[in-house]
Amino acid sequence: MSDPRPIGVFDSGVGGLTVLRELQQQLPQESTIYFADLGHFPYGPRYQAQVRHFALNIIRFLEKLDVKMVVIACNTATAAALNTAREVFDIPIIGVITPGAEAAVAVTRNKKVGVISTEGTLQSQEYLHTIREANPTISVFPKAAPKLVDLVEAGKAQAPETEDVLREDLEDIQRFGADTLILGCTHYPLLRPLIGKILGDEVTVVDSAETTAARVKRVLAKNGLEYADHETPRHQIYVTGSPERFTKTARILFGQDLPPITTVRLELVEAMTGREGAA
Ligand code: DGL
Repeated sequence: MSDPRPIGVFDSGVGGLTVLRELQQQLPQESTIYFADLGHFPYGPRYQAQVRHFALNIIRFLEKLDVKMVVIACNTATAAALNTAREVFDIPIIGVITPGAEAAVAVTRNKKVGVISTEGTLQSQEYLHTIREANPTISVFPKAAPKLVDLVEAGKAQAPETEDVLREDLEDIQRFGADTLILGCTHYPLLRPLIGKILGDEVTVVDSAETTAARVKRVLAKNGLEYADHETPRHQIYVTGSPERFTKTARILFGQDLPPITTVRLELVEAMTGREGAA
């Protein structure tokens, strides 16, 4: 069996592109639709109920575009909406928290794991629960690092001001003695060069892009949903806000291979999905 339908992937902005890039690398034959909810960026400081409302609307929109699976390429939205989404929709839905947490559990030697994330993800305590579920003897040090999200979205992943913020955000985790750091926000993998510079080789940095893509591959295979033919895949991007800043940062990741970007109006997404108003 071969299923040519695209995989839907979404985030509030450029962060989820780190997951999309890995998906395209591990599953080069699959078509994708990426949705960036720029009109509601950032998700991190918002109430969970509101992020859940946005996420469910986006999944409905992607479902109308006939995706065969959805990847919530955003930790904040995974924490807020994954369980509900799985109750509401019939297509497989994959989040980014469990893959990252499991990867950290597998690599930590001193059983001290640091997690940087948005405020929303920290409040949900999803990383703590998932790690403790896998191994109750691991200590977890969570830290919200919201300024980094804005800096990455603004294309300042390598800027000196970003290095200053990062040094401050990582200080407590270094003092805690973590040998493993989870990048609990999909925007952060873009900061890897700076993180490596600050932490050196002592700390293993884990992001969920690779492990999430591996999980997508397994779930597609298990359900007979892979696309096995060799026609060129089609990639599309939808955004709900002004695409200029997004496009600039996205080009750092995709270069000339950046898929075409279509701006959709938020009201249109709401209308298409048959829901009006915000939560
Ligand atoms: N990239 C997202 C995450 O993983 C959200 C960042 C934001 O919108 O605050 O949490």
